[in-house]
Amino acid sequence: MCGIVGYTGNLQAASIILDGLSKLEYRGYDSAGIAVLNEKGHTEVVKAKGRLQNLIDKTDSGKAIKGTCGIGHTRWATHGEPSQINAHPHVSSNSSDISSDNNSEVIGVHNGIIENYLEIKEKLANSGYQFYSQTDTEILIKLIDYYYNKYDHNPLSAISHSMIRVKGSYAIEVMFSDYPEEIYVARKDSPIIIGLKDDASFIASDVPAILKYTNSVYYLDNMEMARITKGHAQFYNIDCKEIEKEVTQIQWDAQTAEKGGYQHFMMKEICEQPKAVRDTLNSLIKDNQIILNEKLNIDSEYIKNLNKITIVACGSAWHVGMIGQYVIENIAKVEVRVELASEFRYRNPLIKKDDLIIVISQSGETADSLAALRLAKQSGCHTLAIVNVVGSSIAREADNVLYTLAGPEIAVATTKAYSAQLVSIYSLAVCFGYIREAFDEDKYHYYVNELLSIPEKIDKILENKERIQWFAFKYSNARDAFFIGRGIDYGISLEGSLKFKETSYIHSEAYAAGELKHGTISLIEDNTLVIGVLTQSHLYKKTISNMVECKTRGAYLMGLTNYGNYQIEDTSDFTVYIPKLEENFAGSLAVIPLQLLAYYVSVSKGIDPDKPRNLAKSVTVE
Ligand code: AGP
Repeated sequence: MCGIVGYTGNLQAASIILDGLSKLEYRGYDSAGIAVLNEKGHTEVVKAKGRLQNLIDKTDSGKAIKGTCGIGHTRWATHGEPSQINAHPHVSSNSSDISSDNNSEVIGVHNGIIENYLEIKEKLANSGYQFYSQTDTEILIKLIDYYYNKYDHNPLSAISHSMIRVKGSYAIEVMFSDYPEEIYVARKDSPIIIGLKDDASFIASDVPAILKYTNSVYYLDNMEMARITKGHAQFYNIDCKEIEKEVTQIQWDAQTAEKGGYQHFMMKEICEQPKAVRDTLNSLIKDNQIILNEKLNIDSEYIKNLNKITIVACGSAWHVGMIGQYVIENIAKVEVRVELASEFRYRNPLIKKDDLIIVISQSGETADSLAALRLAKQSGCHTLAIVNVVGSSIAREADNVLYTLAGPEIAVATTKAYSAQLVSIYSLAVCFGYIREAFDEDKYHYYVNELLSIPEKIDKILENKERIQWFAFKYSNARDAFFIGRGIDYGISLEGSLKFKETSYIHSEAYAAGELKHGTISLIEDNTLVIGVLTQSHLYKKTISNMVECKTRGAYLMGLTNYGNYQIEDTSDFTVYIPKLEENFAGSLAVIPLQLLAYYVSVSKGIDPDKPRNLAKSVTVE
C-alpha cells in the first residue's frame, strides 16, 4: 500500500504535498516522489529512495520546487525493487528525466496493482513506447498517454479508456502538462478522497493527510473519476458523464492524528485505548441497554433465527474474530466460524441465506476482506462490517456498518482499533444473546456493567507500564518467544505474539497450550521466553501444567493472569496481573501488557515501532 497526496490552489504545492505525505508515511515508506506542474506546463519531478525525509532534504522542504499544482507519493514496493527510478511519479516520456519541458506530458502516481501490466507493456512497446522502470505504474501512465493521443488530448477519455483496459486495483492521480492547474483522479478498489477549502483542492489516499486544511471530503467510488481544479471538483462515471456526489464531514480534528507529545504513535494509541473503548461502548449502550440492533436496524426475529455467524478478517482483526468465536458461542449460543479472508475468498464457502457474515477491518480497505465481503454478498446472506475508517470501501459495501470509534490509527501495529473491535464483538454477543433468550435480565445487566467497567480497568493497567518496560528491556535480546493459552487465552496469545514479532523482529509463535507437546515443545531450550496467558479459571490449571512442561525444558516463564491467582508465582519467573473482569471479556485487559511488551522491546532494540520493516498499515493488495 502506498500514499497519494495532491494539491492545486494559490500556494506553493510542494511543501503542502510533503506535509501530507508525512501523515501517510505509515502506508508505505521505501521511497517517495513529487511532481509539480507550473502554469506554463513545465513539470518538475523529484524522487528519493528511503524515508520521506530524504525527499524533504532533497527539495529543501519543498521550497526548491516552484508551482501551485502538484502530486506526491510514498511507495511500498510491489513491482520493482525500492529505488529512485521505480519511485513515483512516473511520466509518459521515455526516460524518468527528473525535469521535463516535454509537450503533452502525462505524469502520475498510483496505489494498487495492475495485474495485466505485462500484456499492456507489450502492446505499448509495439506502438513505440520505451520503459525506464520495472513498475506497473509506468505502464499505466503510458497507457493513459496512448489513449490521450488517440482521443484528442481529452484527459477523461484517456483515463476512462485505460480503466476499461486494465485489470487490478488502483487509485490514480494524474496531471497533463496541457492542463496546468488541473489534477485528474480515478479509483477501483483503492481509496482516494478529495477535500475542498475556498480556492484550494486537496487529494489524498487517507484523511489525516488533509485534515489540517479541511474536514469536508468527497469519497470517490469504484470506477469513478474526478477533474480537480482550484477549489472545485467535478465527478464523472466511467462513461465520462458528470455525476453528483455528497460531501462527508470528518469528525476527527488534525490534532487527533498527531503524536501529541508521545515519542511514537504506537504508545499514544496504546494510551488512547480507554477512550477508544469508552467511545465505542457509549455509541452502543444507552441507559444501560445495548442498542446495537436498533442502531443497525437488525430485526429481532432475524437474530433469533440466525443459523450461523461467520467472522472474516485478516491479521489482528482476525484475532478479534478468534476471541469473538468463543465469546459469541458462550454468551449468545450461536454457532460461529472464523475465517482468514485470504482463504475464505478462494474456497467456495458454504453460505446459507440465514447466515450472518461479519467482516472486521480497521482500515475498511484490506483487499482480501473486501473480496470476502463481496463474495458473501453474492450469496444473498446479510453482511455486517465492523470498521474504523468512515466511508471506507468495506463500510460502504456492507449491508450494515458498525463503526468503532477509535479515531485515526497511524501506527502500523494496531492497538486501539483492535480494542474497539473487541468490545464491539462483546456488545454484539450480549445483545444477540439477550434477544435469543440465552440468559435472563439479571445476567444481561451484569454483562452490561462489566462491559462499561473495561475502560477504567485498562487505565489501571496502563498506570503500571514501567514494570513491563523493565521486563522488556531485560528480554529484548530474546531469540524466540512463545505465547501459550487455551480458549480465549489462545486468542489473546495470537494477538500478543503478532504484536511482538511485528514490532521487535523477534521470532514468535502463539500456540494453543495443549497443542505444544505435539511438536513445538522441541524448540524450547534454556532461557526460551514462554508467555502463558491464564485469564480463564476453568483452564487455569491446564495451562499451568503446560507452562511447567516448558520450564522443565529450561524456559523462562512470564505469566499473565487475573489478580488473585497468586499461586502462579510458584511456577512463573515474572508475573503480570490484570484486574478482575467477566472472563469472556478478559481479552480487553490481557492484551494491554502484551502491547506494552511489544512496544518496549521494539524501542529498546532501536526499532521504530510505528513503521516496522516490510509492513504497511493497510494491505490493499492480495
Ligand atoms: C496488526 O498489527 C497489523 N497491522 C495487521 O495484522 C492488520 O490487523 C491487518 O492487516 C488487517 O487490517 P485491517 O484491520 O485494516 O483490515
